Amino acid sequence: MTFQAQQVTRVLHWLSALFIIGLLGSGIYMADGNDYALYDWHKAFGVIALLLVIIRLYHRKVNPWQSSAKGSQHEKYVQLMHQFLLTACVLMPISGLIYSGLGGFGVDVFGIEIIPHRYSENGQVLAFNQAGSDIGKAIHYYLGYLMTALVIIHVAAALKHHFFDKDNTLSAMIKAKNND
Ligand code: HEM
Ligand code: HEM
Repeated sequence: MTFQAQQVTRVLHWLSALFIIGLLGSGIYMADGNDYALYDWHKAFGVIALLLVIIRLYHRKVNPWQSSAKGSQHEKYVQLMHQFLLTACVLMPISGLIYSGLGGFGVDVFGIEIIPHRYSENGQVLAFNQAGSDIGKAIHYYLGYLMTALVIIHVAAALKHHFFDKDNTLSAMIKAKNND
């Protein structure tokens, strides 16, 4: 991988990390009934996170990431974990869009309506397809908690490598090496 491609991998990783951690935190907080004002922000940033992961997957295909675990005993598990995290980055926003979209709640991205709202005559939200929305909601809920657990394990593993094993797994994700 060229120096520039490594830099792009890092920028995409940390930008996505910021989005995903923010979305997991805001999602769990707001779904607890704490703050309805957060819904519009969560949905808008969630749609942007989907665009970001599409760019990331394309970049990763063209410039495959070489994990620090390459050649080690647990390379397979690390690969599996990264694949799961990337899959969840795709399925979380899609299930959110299905839940809100089919549920009639509408999706706006900073003032641009991408899926319309739907209301009954007395102002109640009216689903386009309740069963579909319920499936989206269930996926968003269970995958959201599973993803939270796996992100915690992922971060803990990075910190263990840095502070206990004292290897360059985390440093390599922070600073690119110029091998060109
Ligand atoms: C990577 C993107 C996303 C992540 C990581 C994420 C994460 C989460 C999490 C962890 C929850 C709490 C789970 C629950 O209790 O239901 C949640 C709730 C929610 N999310 Fe997302 N979300 C993302 C994108 C989206 C998108 C794109 C939409 C809609 C367009 C959306 C709509 C919602 C809604 C409406 C709730 C509240 C559910 C409720 O009140 O029960 N999310 N999200
Ligand atoms: C503070 C939070 C985070 C830290 C400290 C961190 C740390 C790291 C490190 C050190 C690596 C390199 C691992 C290796 O060489 O095998 C890595 C790779 C990776 N991380 Fe994270 N990470 C964080 C958040 C996240 C989040 C939130 C996600 C997505 C849900 C994520 C997804 C990935 C993926 C998919 C890779 C593989 C390389 C790639 O395709 O970009 N990380 N992370």
